[in-house]
Amino acid sequence: MSLESRGAVTRPGSAIGRAGLVTAGGAGIGRAIALEWAAEGGSVVVGDLDREAAIETARQVEQMGGRAIGLGMDVTAPDAMPAMLDALEQLDDPLHALFNVAGASLAKRVDEMTDADWDGVLDLNLKSIYRCSKPVIALLRRNGGGAIVNVASTAGILAENRCSAYTAAKGGAVMLTRNMAMDFARDNIRVNAVCPGSTMTPRIQGWLDRHPGHEDLMDRICPMKRYARPEEIAKPSVFLASDAASYITGASLVIDGGLTAGVRFSIFEDA
Ligand SMILES: NC(=O)c1ccc[n+]([C@@H]2O[C@H](COP(=O)([O-])OP(=O)(O)OC[C@H]3O[C@@H](n4cnc5c(N)ncnc54)[C@H](O)[C@@H]3O)[C@@H](O)[C@H]2O)c1
Repeated sequence: MSLESRGAVTRPGSAIGRAGLVTAGGAGIGRAIALEWAAEGGSVVVGDLDREAAIETARQVEQMGGRAIGLGMDVTAPDAMPAMLDALEQLDDPLHALFNVAGASLAKRVDEMTDADWDGVLDLNLKSIYRCSKPVIALLRRNGGGAIVNVASTAGILAENRCSAYTAAKGGAVMLTRNMAMDFARDNIRVNAVCPGSTMTPRIQGWLDRHPGHEDLMDRICPMKRYARPEEIAKPSVFLASDAASYITGASLVIDGGLTAGVRFSIFEDA
């Protein structure tokens, strides 16, 4: 989607005058969320392990007429959020939203995995939400409230073969979202999750390129017969952070083209 068709930052947006933080904002869903937040008028700090990629996202925001800072950060490191919050001060807008996007899967069964594999996947996908949210909650509380959106996965509600650590972590992210929603509702901090199905990000495209023969995967398993586009995950994520979602907290919004809606029985295909 072109930057123009995302809408100029002058459109009456839900994020005007508000700052957002996006982890893993250098690619895929995180970049799309940063651009969508900016399209809604918000300023944004984009963090990513790949510093250049974060800076490129910030450049794209500025190209839209928005304000952004891109920086290198690692959600598995203790100093990740202090760096993001330092950058936030330069934007000089009150913080309203944190988008915890960083995560990745590992295709291993329990009997194939090392302890380091397990710890790495849990740290990146689950502990990172705790680690990144903690200092933000204190700030949002001081600001009178705000929103946290955690990017979980359909793997948080439905098991996937050979993905034990990832599904455990994403299932944990769904439950952590609910618990944080309960704990901080009285501080006017809403906490929600999105559960994307397969989304065509550079990582997924790279996997398909390396594994020819799987091009028809979505045709076979997804009722809508296609991958999500990153902006189709970004728009509902930004909605959950907006005032339009003012009574929504603790929710996990499934965005999957019907992938987890039900089981398809091939015997009824011709009925
Ligand atoms: N793409 C999908 O099909 C899909 C489906 C469901 C859920 N998700 C979830 O969405 C989120 C984003 O996935 P994506 O496919 O857009 O990712 P991606 O792999 O396309 O991009 C990930 C970005 O995260 C950055 N990153 C990796 N490790 C990091 C770290 N430790 N700290 C900071 N940044 C880091 C990378 O540098 C990269 O820029 C993840 O949590 C993923 O589990 C993705």
